[in-house]
Amino acid sequence: MDASLPVGVFDSGVGGLTVLRAMLRRLPHEDMLYLGDTARLPYGTKSSRTVARYAAQAASKLVERRIKLLVVACNTASAAALDDLQALWPELPVIGVVAPGAKAACAASRNGSIAVIATESTIGNQAYHAAIRGINPQARISAGACSLFVSLAEEGWLDGPIPEAVAERYLAPLFREAGPPAPDCLLLGCTHFPALLAPIRKVLGGETRIVDSAETTAEAVEEALFGLKALNPRSGPGQVSFMTTDDPPRFARIGAVFLGRPLSAREVELINL
Ligand code: DGL
Repeated sequence: MDASLPVGVFDSGVGGLTVLRAMLRRLPHEDMLYLGDTARLPYGTKSSRTVARYAAQAASKLVERRIKLLVVACNTASAAALDDLQALWPELPVIGVVAPGAKAACAASRNGSIAVIATESTIGNQAYHAAIRGINPQARISAGACSLFVSLAEEGWLDGPIPEAVAERYLAPLFREAGPPAPDCLLLGCTHFPALLAPIRKVLGGETRIVDSAETTAEAVEEALFGLKALNPRSGPGQVSFMTTDDPPRFARIGAVFLGRPLSAREVELINL
């Protein structure tokens, strides 16, 4: 494997930039190539078959540009298409966000009762149930789809009465009617949900641990590259390139919130899948 190649990352849109951000912190010497399929977002309300097709097209664009490892930063695509992608490119290491997210939740929960929120598609195919039970077969899981969170995050409505009311509506049944024991951990199983941490925290109070897969995915990528002796040996900073399937200015404007730094539309290449 050529260690100087970039790591490829794709998501249905800009939410996966939270995963990229964690990877940039942990792996500052790597080049990264990010693709957000904003033209077809959301994936989360589509059938697994459609998501798998979109995921294969997005991944194939990254493979075409030559990458050493593929990160599927979209929960919905990880849940629906990870095995297909691995089968399409057997030589390429492929890392999704579901297994790292499940690992973070199992480590955070003390009572084994875990609430999972994600898109309709991810909840529907029970990918997180399987991943959590693979680590802790006794885990109690309450799961709910929170589709409106995606729109709120895209709209930049990250706090205030409207996101709080939506969070209350989604989370109350998961926490107050679940158990015993009631969940002591909430897993944010969607790239957009970390942006809504403030209203979620307000509804749940300080006791519940809230985890997402960004950090544990970055850790899994580092471990994989280390194991393959494919960490970039350079001592200077790596380069990050962005591609989108629709409107670079919008990608840059909303993406900056998820990436945690200003992003210019000039940095974002418009591509066709
Ligand atoms: N990236 C998706 C996920 O993590 C959320 C947005 C969408 O539905 O496409 O599930």
